Amino acid sequence: MSASRKVVIVGAGDVGSSFAYALAQRGIAEEIAMVDVNIELMKGQVLDLVHGAPYYPTVRIHNGDKSDYTDARVIVITAGAKQKPGESRLELLKKNVRIIEGIVSDIVDQNSKAIIVVVSNPVDVLTYVAWKKSGWPRQRVIGSGTVLDSARLRYLISDYCNLDVKNVHAYIIGEHGDSEFAAWSMSHIGGMTVEEFLDLKGDRDDNKKIQNEIQQKVRDSAYHIIDYKGATYYAVGLALVKITEAILLNQKSVLTVSICLDGEYGLSDVCLGIPCLVSAQGAEEIIQKKLPPEEQKSLERSAEILKASIRQARS
Ligand SMILES: NC(=O)c1ccc[n+]([C@@H]2O[C@H](COP(=O)([O-])OP(=O)(O)OC[C@H]3O[C@@H](n4cnc5c(N)ncnc54)[C@H](O)[C@@H]3O)[C@@H](O)[C@H]2O)c1
Repeated sequence: MSASRKVVIVGAGDVGSSFAYALAQRGIAEEIAMVDVNIELMKGQVLDLVHGAPYYPTVRIHNGDKSDYTDARVIVITAGAKQKPGESRLELLKKNVRIIEGIVSDIVDQNSKAIIVVVSNPVDVLTYVAWKKSGWPRQRVIGSGTVLDSARLRYLISDYCNLDVKNVHAYIIGEHGDSEFAAWSMSHIGGMTVEEFLDLKGDRDDNKKIQNEIQQKVRDSAYHIIDYKGATYYAVGLALVKITEAILLNQKSVLTVSICLDGEYGLSDVCLGIPCLVSAQGAEEIIQKKLPPEEQKSLERSAEILKASIRQARS
């Protein structure tokens, strides 16, 4: 593993540039290389970012190409095609599969020892594609999974309960998409389950309803933001800073990244968001917990949906 704190961001669009901006300000990367097939966009983003140099902690930001993969510690892939008029979701998916396979092929050819973090959607399917293409151990090819969704859940709970979001430990697991769900059995506030904490606030009978409403709001978040402004990028940028920090600083943070399961939770050969210890090794350990039957069923449903998408994507 490279000892450098070099991060390569593949895809200099909205998500890649927001991530770069947030990462530069955190002061944890010594070098950030931006790569994009749209060279003009890449140059523009890099120039705009480097002019903040006097105000960042020390970091070198520069235009990149595939040679930058060689000594990178973390490679974050936000590259993707946008849906064209008349193009089906399946055609778009297949196009994005080819993009991710091409990038991973270049990474492997450069003899990189990095951890790959896939962000492009559908993130769980593309993480699987990237992992298969790489031939690397699964802990080194992960996806951003439901890290953003878990942040949204934590925010919504904290907002409802009127307390510091940092005291809310709560996880969305499964697909980063419509079948994701809140794993309430893993979630807690100040040593209490979320349900117990809600009891302190009021009518016990409403707890399930409140929890379901919060969960639904998380699922709908991206749709609302996209309706309002076309894309989501600030919060995901920060979620990516957290994942990158856990790797660069070997933090062993519990994060719901996407990883290929191999028997954990009774599931195999599918990538989905699940709590993992994230460290310099990547997702070095999957946290295993016996889920209550309804949560286990939801996870299995999510896995089935993802497996069907993987089959379609590779057909
Ligand atoms: N996982 C998450 O939580 C999450 C959240 C938000 C967005 N996303 C996804 O992130 C991706 C990027 O979103 P965005 O808003 O930044 O899109 P964008 O269109 O602004 O940026 C994508 C960039 O990828 C570049 N690109 C395409 N093919 C490439 C290749 N082969 N090599 C290098 N660069 C290439 C494009 O030129 C473009 O600049 C999308 O797939 C989006 O759905 C994921």
